[in-house]
This record gives sequence, structure tokens and C-alpha cells, in this order.
Amino acid sequence: MSAPSLNWRHCWPHAVPIETHISLVLLDGDFAWKIKKPVQLPFLDFSTLALRRHYCEEELRINRRSAPDVYLDVLPLTGSAQAPVLAGSGEPIEWVLRMRCFPPHSLFSDLAAEGRLQAWHIDALAEQIALLHLGQAPLAVAPAKDVTAWTLESVDEIAALHPDATSPARLAAMRSAVQRLIGGQGDWRARRLAGGWLREGHGDLHLGNLVVWHQRVLAFDAIEFDPALRCIDVISDAAFAYMDLLAVGLPAFALRFINAYVERSGDYAGLAGLRAFSLYRALVRAKVALLCGDVGRFARYWSVAESFAAAPPPPRLFLTMGLSGSGKSMAAQMLVEALAEAGIMAVRLRSDVERKRLLGLPPTARPDPALAYSAEATRRTYRRLAGLADALLGDGFSVVVDAAFLRQGERESFRRIAENRRVPFRLLEVVAGMPLMEERLVARNLAADDASDADVEVLHRQSAEPVPRAWAAVHRVIDNEGSRAELSDRLESLLREPV
Ligand SMILES: Nc1ncnc2c1ncn2[C@@H]1O[C@H](COP(=O)(O)OP(=O)(O)OP(=O)(O)O)[C@@H](O)[C@H]1O
Ligand SMILES: [Mg+2]
Repeated sequence: MSAPSLNWRHCWPHAVPIETHISLVLLDGDFAWKIKKPVQLPFLDFSTLALRRHYCEEELRINRRSAPDVYLDVLPLTGSAQAPVLAGSGEPIEWVLRMRCFPPHSLFSDLAAEGRLQAWHIDALAEQIALLHLGQAPLAVAPAKDVTAWTLESVDEIAALHPDATSPARLAAMRSAVQRLIGGQGDWRARRLAGGWLREGHGDLHLGNLVVWHQRVLAFDAIEFDPALRCIDVISDAAFAYMDLLAVGLPAFALRFINAYVERSGDYAGLAGLRAFSLYRALVRAKVALLCGDVGRFARYWSVAESFAAAPPPPRLFLTMGLSGSGKSMAAQMLVEALAEAGIMAVRLRSDVERKRLLGLPPTARPDPALAYSAEATRRTYRRLAGLADALLGDGFSVVVDAAFLRQGERESFRRIAENRRVPFRLLEVVAGMPLMEERLVARNLAADDASDADVEVLHRQSAEPVPRAWAAVHRVIDNEGSRAELSDRLESLLREPV
């Protein structure tokens, strides 16, 4: 039974149809009805009724993980093609997926185009994707897709589709970047499989598949038709949204997203693959834009791909330092975003989050202080931060360590890491007056949404060992008595210092 020949108006007389090459979506008031076309293409097979039912059910299953309120059920159409009946008696002639319709202009792509995307959308997205990934069992065997070959094919298709779009030299540079970044990952796949980071994800996390609905962020339209496209490295999934935020000109949000995502998932090791997977995602999107005849969109994705292909700027290491409530976490977040605006990929590591991760706790848990803040727990926390910082610098990321660094010994071990890696180093001492720090901590604790457990009592017990004079070249005092905007300006001027 072919969907185009299906007289769908018999069931949905007032629906507005949207047709793609593989499906028909009928928008009808509160609901959207999706019918698969009986097509067979190189990459999918919807040719039989049984297959279409199977893929409707798969689509429902995989999307209910991240958007349960949108994906409702799969129903049969019965009767005849001329007069189909929804869920009537008799033999099914077609299957239909029922979804709720979300309001117009609520996609991330709309919000980005209209300048309405906000920080909380990004944080909620990171949480949603991390929880989706953490909720899946690691794959025992993963479908082997040769991402290198596939990405090279995209470059070839781009060259064929649009010979004027890119010069032969740029194409050659792109091919060699694909070989080097994606092909040069050695036994990456085996390591990621063993680490448990190949999972059944989403597969198509561009901004058009993310929606803000009832004050929540949902990912929808996961790839149902080919498990190999969604049973993937979790970083490949996250890289898609990251790359797409860059492509719409929102680098600070892109870095905010990837930082919040890895902070939640704990998969810092996966970041070593971020450039490679972002390059792959950008090239596929560039090719798709050309196939749709959208040369402007192609140019944006191609230039994002070129930015990943180019050598990254040399990494740098920043430490925050200061008492609770001085604003270290705020400064660290702003610094990551300011670095992003300058084209530098930086990862923030938070002592509060890693301290709890070592105890197997989520970021906003409130553990027993005797356990979580013993001298040994603090040593372990700084050791973990040091290990992560060293590895990330080795992978080419700048690192911002958000911790109190009250002891000189703690600072010294990180300075040694920077020296061994030959990367520029700065210790940023964030300062504010005691009454203001007290006031900020009271307000923060009322909100109860920060990973820090510190309150005014903790603040009163704290004292920082002074930074030695010999550190003057790397020590900067950041006054945070003023507004957020003033803090941001101070950090930006710090980045203008020659390194
Ligand atoms: N310049 C500022 N203007 C307004 N609010 C600020 C400013 N700086 C920080 N804050 C707020 O003050 C509170 C404390 O800041 P923050 O959490 O960054 O401190 P911290 O030094 O990281 O503390 P801890 O050591 O407990 O982690 C936060 O709620 C933050 O949003
Ligand atoms: Mg903090």
C-alpha cells in the first residue's frame, strides 16, 4: 500500500501535509501523524508493510527515551487506500506514528536564527543528552561504520556536486585533514568499546531536531532506519550539536554545551575525538546542504569543517583561586566562553563536581562533609583534576581548573604540568569583600542548584596561603566586587595579554 496513493484526507480532512522523500507528516491540530513511504533506498528499506510497522515502532521506542511527551503511539490504518480508517477493525493496510505537535518557532534552529537561544536551553540540552547516553547500556559489539571512508565520500560528493565551491587545493587539504584526524585515531574504536562509550544514542542531533517545549528541552527525530547511525560513540552524538552551534555562529554556547555535557557524563576521554567527529558531522551537513541546493548553508558548514581541519591554537592552562563565594565558578565559566569567542576550545574542570564523582555522586548531591572533605578526599580530588588537565592539554584543549587552590602545593603541581607540556600558565585569584561573598553564598544556597557545598560557615573557616612573590609573572588578581559584565570585561582583557 503506497502512502502517496493513500487517501489520507479521508482520515484527516483538515491536516497540512509535509512530505519528505521517505515520509509523509500530517499536521492536524494537537497531533502530527507520520506515515512512512514504501521506498527502498541505498540506506533504508521501507518497502514492505511489516518493515514500515517495525520502523514506526523503532521510531517510537528510540524517541520516547528523550521525548516521551511527544511520541505517543503507533496505530494501524485499516479499511482501504481510498477510505482508510484509523485503528478500525480488519487487516492493517498501513501504520502511522502519532506525535504531539509542538508550537511553531520552538526549534533550536529557530531560536538560534531569531537570537532567542539562552544559556538555560544549552544547559538543559547538555543534561538531556548526557542522561540519554548514561541511561543506555554500553554496546557489546557496535555496528562497524567506517567513518573515515564515509567522510571522504562526502568530500568527493561535495567536489562533484559543486565544482566551483571549493578549490582543488582546499579539497586536498580537507581530504588530508580527514585522514589525519579521523583516520589517525588508531585503536580509538576498540578503546571506546572497551570503555563502554559506544551506545545507542540519537544519531541526528542537529539544531532542527531539538525543541523547547513546556520549558523543557527535548531531542526528537532520532535515526530509526539504520541502527549503525545511532549505535555510535557518544561523543559523535554530542559533537553534532556542538558543531551545529558553531555553524550558527554561537561558539560560546557550543563550548558551554560540550563542557556541561562532559561534566555530566564524565567522559573527558571522549573529548580527544571531538574534533574528528565534529569534522565528520560538518562535512555531512555541508553535503546535505548542497544536495538541497542551499549554497549559503553549504558555505557555513564547509567553513566550520575547515576550522576543525586547521591546526588548533596552542593550549593554555588556567587555575582559579579564592575563597567560597568570590566567584571562581562564575569566572571559570566566563573564561571558557571568552576563549570560545576567540576560537580556543577550552575545557573547565570543577573540583566540586570531580570530588563528588569520586564518591559516585551527582554534582548537586550534598555528601557527608567528614567523608567528602577529609584531607585525603581533597588530595584525591586535586590528583584527579591534575590527571584530567594533563590529558586534555595533551589532546590540544586549553583547560580552566575551577577549584579553590588554597594551598601553594596544590598550585605548584599544576604549574609543573604546564611546564612539562610547555603551555602558558595563569593563576587567577578571584577576590571580593567578605560581606559580598557572604551575601552571594546565602543567595546561592537558597537556589540550591550549584555543585559547591560551601556556605557562610565554610567561608569563615577558610584561609588561602599567600601566592609567593616569585609567582608574579603568572599570578593575576581578578576583582569581582562589581557586576557580571565587569567580571567578564576583566577576563577578556586578561586574554588580550601576550602569552
Ligand atoms: N559579579 C557577580 N555578580 C553577581 N553575582 C555573582 C558575581 N560573581 C559571582 N556571583 C554569584 O555569587 C555566587 C558565588 O559565586 P561562585 O559560585 O562563582 O563562587 P565560588 O568562588 O565558585 O564559590 P565556591 O568556592 O563555593 O565554589 C554564585 O551564585 C554566582 O552566581
Ligand atoms: Mg565554585
